[in-house]
Amino acid sequence: MSSKNKFKLLQENDALAELGGGEERIKKQHAAGRKTARERLVDLLDPNTFAEIDKFVTHRTTDFDMDKQKFLGDGVITGYGKIDGRLVYVFAQDFTVFGGSLSRANADKIVKIMDLAMKMGAPVIGLNDSGGARIQEGVESLGGYADIFYRNVMSSGVIPQISAILGPCAGGAVYSPAITDFIMMVKDTSYMFVTGPDVIKTVTHEEVTKDELGGAMTHNSKSGVAHMMAENDEQAMMMLRELMSFLPSNNMEDPPIKVCTDNIHREDDSLDTIVPDDPNKPYDMNEIITKVVDDKHFFEIQPFYAKNIIIGFARLGGKPVGIVANQPAVLAGVLDIDSSTKAARFVRFCDAFNIPIVTFEDVPGFLPGTTQEFGGIIKHGAKLLYAFAEATVPKLTVITRKAYGGAYDVMSSKHIGADMNFAYPTAEIAVMGPEGAVNIIYRNKLNETERQKAIDDYRTSFASPYKAAALGYIDEIIKPRDTRKKLIQALEMTQSKSKTNPPKKHGNIPL
Ligand code: HXC
Repeated sequence: MSSKNKFKLLQENDALAELGGGEERIKKQHAAGRKTARERLVDLLDPNTFAEIDKFVTHRTTDFDMDKQKFLGDGVITGYGKIDGRLVYVFAQDFTVFGGSLSRANADKIVKIMDLAMKMGAPVIGLNDSGGARIQEGVESLGGYADIFYRNVMSSGVIPQISAILGPCAGGAVYSPAITDFIMMVKDTSYMFVTGPDVIKTVTHEEVTKDELGGAMTHNSKSGVAHMMAENDEQAMMMLRELMSFLPSNNMEDPPIKVCTDNIHREDDSLDTIVPDDPNKPYDMNEIITKVVDDKHFFEIQPFYAKNIIIGFARLGGKPVGIVANQPAVLAGVLDIDSSTKAARFVRFCDAFNIPIVTFEDVPGFLPGTTQEFGGIIKHGAKLLYAFAEATVPKLTVITRKAYGGAYDVMSSKHIGADMNFAYPTAEIAVMGPEGAVNIIYRNKLNETERQKAIDDYRTSFASPYKAAALGYIDEIIKPRDTRKKLIQALEMTQSKSKTNPPKKHGNIPL
């Protein structure tokens, strides 16, 4: 064959691989409101940076006449590219080829880029759109999954691993994303379930739609499995790009610093009046966060789940920080099972990837009740305590109002290793709220007037930041308007923090 023909053959094969499962199936994918794997990669990566690997891999199955149905690439596109000029590894499952299902060959492609990512210390982003194990292959496909799961676990805490769910992901297709750091889903077009509605109907006789069972809102608001939700594929890719801008490439690097054009000394008078005089009146902690961070820009994670705690990324003086904040506008900002586990996983992520943690605290305590106790609030609340205590990244805390009981200890208190603890003059740091305290101390011994006086006295003496400041548990009582500059100053001061925990195989977080 002449070299001209050889080049022509390569061109033809390239075109064939790029066509995936063919025009008809691509049309079907578009009609379902979903982009193809290749279109998604174009949206995700910087222009012209994608380098494909294993474009001509095919499956090796002969059962079910599979040898007559081969598609170049075998249903997953793998390679590397750049986001904001930084290296990332990617795989994008192609639903137009056997429903993006996982074959042995296709698992090998994913494994190859996961291994490269670990060697080079760069993140892996998986764009999942898959019917699960390739049914024609059986155990080879299961082996492929396990090889991926194993690498997900080994990579955890070493390189960021991000998953987007962009179609129906069933069976094995959900477990790899579950081990990764963040899961993005798309409204109306993405689903995640271990077993689908038909199986559920047979086994438990429950009738449930695909969307109710495993749609984007279900996992973003009910199960807490997902962390982000986009309106469509394109927005999902934009959000992933933004998420990456806060993360280092691996656990040996610091997160990328952005040039800060927002005044680092900026004061904001309006912060002085956000916390209401009435201690029982709610306010929106998001307001404080956005007024304090660079350019008022806060990238919230899991905004629909356990809304009584807020988590997300922002920048202070150009440096990425992870924010954990009680939300007094929802359930008075109380800590319960869901909010504890939500924040605990986030704190551990930040700690693994050298992202300082800023905590805004207004918490009346842990939520009482049998549902919480029977559900294991003891061990789930302990997760957050454990996560904050083991975190060695810079930890800064601002108590805006309530810091009661165990929740005071848990929310990045001085005692569990916070580096700088600030309190607003409105802070109330005590074992419990004045009413509860008076009820217990005096039982039924006081009439209503005496009881009210006792409550007022307790509030004046104990429900303030001054006792804690006198003991050095609070480093400084600050004016709310100064929050931004105080945090930036403290962040700079903690820049050279070098703290390690005792050597061990791993701790035993209460799971
Ligand atoms: C092989 C598959 C496939 C699979 C889909 N296809 N899933 N091929 N293995 N797992 C193929 C279809 O045959 C079809 O081929 C094409 O992909 C598109 O599928 P449709 O059914 O037409 O699409 P849709 O109606 O959108 O439904 C998508 C779906 C459904 C919900 C994913 O296909 C489905 O339920 N698939 C099976 C899911 C499943 O049970 N997977 C195994 C889970 S067990 P053509 O040629 O017509 O285009 C598992 C074990 C691993 O994963 C456990 C590890 C822990």
